[in-house]
Amino acid sequence: MLHTPTILVNFARNVNLIHMKKDRILVTGGTGYIGSHTVVELQNAGYPVVIIDNLSNSNIEVLDGIERITGLRPDFVEADCTDLDALKALFAKYPDIRGIINFAASKAVGESMEKPVLYYRNNLNTLMNLLDLMAPNGVKGIVFSSSCTVYGEPDENPVTEQSPIKKATSPYGNTKQISEEIITDVINAGAPFKSVILRYFNPVGAHPSAEIGELPNGVPQNLIPYITQTAIGIRKELSVFGNDYPTPDGSCIRDFINVVDLAKAHVKAMDRMLENPEAAPIEIYNLGTGNGVSVLELINTFESATGVKVPYKIVGRRAGDIEKVWGNPSHANEVLGWKADTPLADTMRSAWAWQCKLRERGIM
Ligand code: UD1
Repeated sequence: MLHTPTILVNFARNVNLIHMKKDRILVTGGTGYIGSHTVVELQNAGYPVVIIDNLSNSNIEVLDGIERITGLRPDFVEADCTDLDALKALFAKYPDIRGIINFAASKAVGESMEKPVLYYRNNLNTLMNLLDLMAPNGVKGIVFSSSCTVYGEPDENPVTEQSPIKKATSPYGNTKQISEEIITDVINAGAPFKSVILRYFNPVGAHPSAEIGELPNGVPQNLIPYITQTAIGIRKELSVFGNDYPTPDGSCIRDFINVVDLAKAHVKAMDRMLENPEAAPIEIYNLGTGNGVSVLELINTFESATGVKVPYKIVGRRAGDIEKVWGNPSHANEVLGWKADTPLADTMRSAWAWQCKLRERGIM
């Protein structure tokens, strides 16, 4: 009888110790869409976090949302990762950083066609600065945000990590391919750290608390923010880009993955990279659900999950769109012990709740 409370006290103490002993993680782009959801999951798992973000495509108030969800406000440095001196100062201030997750990148495909140098400079200089500073600062690993865009238009679906890499169709996509190659070369040259490359399919939805979510600048280019903004009346109607593809309903097919599921995979990847000696110096994982869903199916799922209509019209194909791509996530399921299992209807409700929250706050 007397033993139980002591055991419990020790257990709690140990859990605390384990939490206190977790390595600090630097999250670049941590106030952005996927970054902020990942900071929440890292903190929930006991990792202390410092964010660096230049706020070019995000808002400082995201920190409030993270704090409301987790009870912890992550440390924050406002700076640009292409600024090597700023990064050096950050590592001097936080000598306990042992892991990096690199989200800081420009990500609009269309914009990258117009401003290729901006994309190459931002995305590649950021990565190279981080890689340069890892060894001198004792950082043990970097998780890199890559994309299924590296598979281009696949010959077969679902794609595995072994599926061929196709020539990039945009400077944005090319920065992802080149970044993967840079990391591979650096690790193969014997760098004293590891890397995990995560190839995301289409991240959608928001945190179930509606405290954080996606906040695109201006007219959304991506499907879900366009759907939610149309549903709430900001946009008159959604344009569906093409219904003449060789797919069952003629619209494109994607693998829509819940952003919180996606964020959780980063914690698994970090755990493995920092703690598991079996982790190879460089590992690559597809992060998807394994299910292909068409654009029209997605609109239907949104409408039935939320009870809100999305006015839409069919227009011509969008240049550069992939016809169909979805991922085989078995490798991540088996090795990372991770699975994207949030039902799509729940994800749609979370996206809608976030849009309603933006309205409530007078933001949109
Ligand atoms: C693209 C990129 C991906 C990148 C992502 C984030 C490629 C091949 N894909 O994904 O790497 O990570 O953007 O920026 O470069 N759609 C409409 N109407 C709209 C918007 C979209 O019908 O108003 C359709 C598109 O034609 C597409 C689907 O919805 O079939 C998804 O589009 P989107 O959300 O932009 O993502 P991807 O193009 O798949």
